[in-house]
Amino acid sequence: MEVKKVAVIGAGTMGHGIAQIMATAGLDVKLVDISEELLKKALDKIRWSLQKFAEKKKIKPEEIDVIMGRIKTTTSLEEACKDIDLMVEAVPEKMDLKKQIFSKADQVAPPHAILATNTSSLSITEISEATKRPDKVVGLHFFNPPQLMPLLEIVKGAHTSDETLQKAVEVGKLLKKTVVVVRKDVRGFIVNGVLSAVMNEAFWAVYRGEATIEEVDAATKFKLGFPMGMFELADFVGLDILADVSKVMHEAFGERAKPCPLIEEYVKRGELGKKTGKGFYDWSKGRPVIKFQLAGKFDHRRLQAVAANAAAWLIHDDVADPKDIDTAMKFGTGWPQGPCEMADKIGIDTVVNKLNELYEKHKEEMYKPCPLLTEYVEKGWLGKKAKRGFYEY
Ligand SMILES: NC(=O)c1ccc[n+]([C@@H]2O[C@H](COP(=O)([O-])OP(=O)(O)OC[C@H]3O[C@@H](n4cnc5c(N)ncnc54)[C@H](O)[C@@H]3O)[C@@H](O)[C@H]2O)c1
Repeated sequence: MEVKKVAVIGAGTMGHGIAQIMATAGLDVKLVDISEELLKKALDKIRWSLQKFAEKKKIKPEEIDVIMGRIKTTTSLEEACKDIDLMVEAVPEKMDLKKQIFSKADQVAPPHAILATNTSSLSITEISEATKRPDKVVGLHFFNPPQLMPLLEIVKGAHTSDETLQKAVEVGKLLKKTVVVVRKDVRGFIVNGVLSAVMNEAFWAVYRGEATIEEVDAATKFKLGFPMGMFELADFVGLDILADVSKVMHEAFGERAKPCPLIEEYVKRGELGKKTGKGFYDWSKGRPVIKFQLAGKFDHRRLQAVAANAAAWLIHDDVADPKDIDTAMKFGTGWPQGPCEMADKIGIDTVVNKLNELYEKHKEEMYKPCPLLTEYVEKGWLGKKAKRGFYEY
């Protein structure tokens, strides 16, 4: 059955944007939140955003009212879900709340309806078990802001059927998103999994006094060509959010994702990044200026090696293949190259040597090369120069 009617639960940062792109794609949307006031604010934000799209000639001005007309609001989840083909839940990141929403939606939605969650860090499998249709529960992980970010990670829970996954991919294409399928319900999925490992390495380097924040960020921007420095990005995302993510990753992966105490120090002081005006940087005068001259002061290979190792674990654990990982990192974070492409270019042997060097120095589990990487080196799959690495050339 074709997806035509959608309920979006939660009209906050993500929900209003998801409702907007769904309505822009021609779907009928019921947008749900806990008060009329929040819903009105969400509609105002959607209209503002559509006006921006019209100014940039991405849509015609007369389409604004048509798109807005496809979005109905309600505070009743039951009312919103009774005749849907798809629900997308975007309420706060709390397992109990998500389970409650899924259980309620399951009771009122038609049997064919797919129930999706936009969770960044919770288990899709556990959420699905709050319903009697776990095969129809899937992760639709949009990026912020959904109106602009091209990537959609589609996450298969342990019970998600192939048919549900296929439908979710079709919805992603209808929304004109670049879709990657995350084959297993691992914490961090692809993008946040790789990104949090690389950020963690940046945090540890500064915490141990091996580099300054500015040096790491200059290397990130000017040697790796990432759109933001690691610390700049951390401030942008919010250090409280990153602290929560690092706890989730630590629980899931143990010492392989050992959190750096640096972040908690900032959180305790209430310096949460851009939103509080101060985090690693002082944001009171706008975006930090990162000096090109500092780019050579931090060994950017460390970040590349950690990124490649995180990617290798995803392949080793059959979560995704190199192409999807690279696509996800390029479209989800704006990296000019994905970690597998990067590793093939600099050499898998270089990656493994760098990881071993870090391991020898710090004796931390997080630097142990994934067995897949050592296997590649043993086989002579050293990357582009050997015509075989993560990819065949
Ligand atoms: N913000 C991001 O960058 C981002 C990116 C990707 C995924 N996510 C995920 O998306 C989800 C939502 O995040 P957000 O940043 O939009 O949060 P948010 O706090 O901005 O919005 C959540 C909304 O849900 C509403 N809500 C709370 N309880 C509700 C209920 N019982 N019924 C209906 N609505 C309810 C809140 O009033 C609020 O408007 C989370 O799971 C988060 O992990 C967030």
